[in-house]
Amino acid sequence: MTKLNDKYTLKNGVEIPKIGFGTWQIAPQDAQQAVNNALELGYRHIDTALVYHNEKEVGLGFKQSKLKREDVFITSKLPAETKSYKQALVDFQTTLDNLQVDYVDLYLIHAPWPWSQKGANYDRQNQEVWRAMEEIYTSGKAKAIGVSNFNVHDLQNVLAVAKIPPMVNQIRYFIGHTQQEVTTFAQEHDILIEAYSPLATGSLLTNTQLQELAAKYQVSLAQLAIQFCIQNNVLPLPKAVQRAHAQANAQLNFKISSADMQWLNDFIASED
Ligand SMILES: NC(=O)c1ccc[n+]([C@@H]2O[C@H](COP(=O)([O-])OP(=O)(O)OC[C@H]3O[C@@H](n4cnc5c(N)ncnc54)[C@H](OP(=O)(O)O)[C@@H]3O)[C@@H](O)[C@H]2O)c1
Repeated sequence: MTKLNDKYTLKNGVEIPKIGFGTWQIAPQDAQQAVNNALELGYRHIDTALVYHNEKEVGLGFKQSKLKREDVFITSKLPAETKSYKQALVDFQTTLDNLQVDYVDLYLIHAPWPWSQKGANYDRQNQEVWRAMEEIYTSGKAKAIGVSNFNVHDLQNVLAVAKIPPMVNQIRYFIGHTQQEVTTFAQEHDILIEAYSPLATGSLLTNTQLQELAAKYQVSLAQLAIQFCIQNNVLPLPKAVQRAHAQANAQLNFKISSADMQWLNDFIASED
């Protein structure tokens, strides 16, 4: 039912493949191969970040694929620690240099606060950084811009000053952890929710209740978890170094019934 070349359309009209390939915690020595595998398997959307320290290898994986630039959607992210206009422009150029591309398809503010100060108030700085994001967008070097790990307050803070509103919010999202408040707010504002860690970084996959439901559909729990995101109009970013995982995660020839979707949406995961 879901194919790797299916797309969502962002509010600015840019099309984005419905399943992305995550690259967090893929070591630099594995990243080129992993990205090349993913592209060979038909993925057309790769998610990286400056802080993953693998942008260069992600870029090499893309180059190795010999695919045309316009046929692959590449996302990267401004480090959460960067909270000034000037540094944002510098970091963005580093990302382009690392990836060896002229533009990214999507550029995100990685988080509303530096990781070491999770939850701290950076409202003013996020507004300043958003000005840099808008400039990058206007230059054509990012085809879309957005944020990550933003809650409703953080989104409202940026929306209050934005000439160009964020098109995406990438958040931690999986069965049992769907962050309803920010998800609903974003969807009401036509901001696409991307699901990072759609398999809860692997920990979801041992849940026996969910395994039973997956068995009913004769799919793996990973496939169920990815399809769940899509049926909620959310964009999953599964990560898989192992080629067999990456391949399986793209085979989504089934539909979860509305009754089961309701059960999954009400599910409380014991892991979280
Ligand atoms: N914006 C942010 O702050 C943020 C934060 C976290 C993540 N992200 C993005 O979201 C992506 C995904 O999140 P994540 O890296 O936390 O992990 P994830 O996709 O939730 O889970 C990945 C783990 O599941 C395993 N796996 C994948 N497919 C499988 C399958 N079919 N069967 C069994 N195991 C399977 C992987 O193993 P193998 O690798 O061994 O195949 C890996 O251990 C990241 O890579 C990154 O791009 C963004």
